[in-house]
Amino acid sequence: MKGTLYVVGVGPGDPELMTLKAVRILEHCGVWLAPAAKKDGESTALGIVEGVVDRRDKEIITHHFPMKKVRMGHAPDPEVKTAWDAAAARIVGHLRAGRDVAFPTLGDPAIYSTGFYVCETLFALAPDLPVEIIPGVSSIGASAAAAGQPLCLGDDRLVVIPATFENGRLRETLEQFDSVVLMKVHRVMDRLVPLLSEMNLLDKAVLVERSSQGGQRIRRDLVAAMQPDDAPHYFSTIIVRKS
Ligand SMILES: C[S@@+](CC[C@H](N)C(=O)[O-])C[C@H]1O[C@@H](n2cnc3c(N)ncnc32)[C@H](O)[C@@H]1O
Repeated sequence: MKGTLYVVGVGPGDPELMTLKAVRILEHCGVWLAPAAKKDGESTALGIVEGVVDRRDKEIITHHFPMKKVRMGHAPDPEVKTAWDAAAARIVGHLRAGRDVAFPTLGDPAIYSTGFYVCETLFALAPDLPVEIIPGVSSIGASAAAAGQPLCLGDDRLVVIPATFENGRLRETLEQFDSVVLMKVHRVMDRLVPLLSEMNLLDKAVLVERSSQGGQRIRRDLVAAMQPDDAPHYFSTIIVRKS
């Protein structure tokens, strides 16, 4: 019998924001393949799950995925591709042996998550193997909740974009939409904040750092958040809502 791969969204950090289904699936799966951003580093997703699901009898594989830009329609960086291929091959081995595998992932798997790249690689390698996606609370919803504001209301048009894209594309997006969620902001604050200032949007923007986690900060002074001695954490999202 074949096993199933479950890509499980574990929410933005607070273990209480894990769904009952995520907990049940993780309890059920004997093998977890957890993504880690750094070589030999901890998996954030695993850190969220710890304390909620007993992992003592689990086979836990921490797999390193290099953090590099992926552009749709372009070939991925070879290092990134190698990591996807290796993860998919390890998963296939377990599924063919009849073992269910969980891939816990931060937030929701449908939003900029490695989980879907691994799924696509798996489909190409072994189209017969079953995959299930378990949605999770995204950091977008958690950030809006922490800031105490909506993402969109009425006829607002909402868009989500990685802030790592060039300023021309960011400017165009900020001009066109009523509400803009900027993710992956931490390394580009030095060009993003001047752009928001130039577009008179600084007072419409809020930066949410580590939403729902210990150390959560709501920062409305983005100029201060640009200073290297107080730079935001990787888990930071900016919401710009014009209305
Ligand atoms: C690779 S994306 C993963 C998004 C995730 N799949 C989700 O649904 O939230 C990583 C980016 O998500 C945002 N992020 C993740 N966790 C966050 C948190 N707890 N608070 C604020 N932003 C967060 C940051 O913008 C970060 O750079």
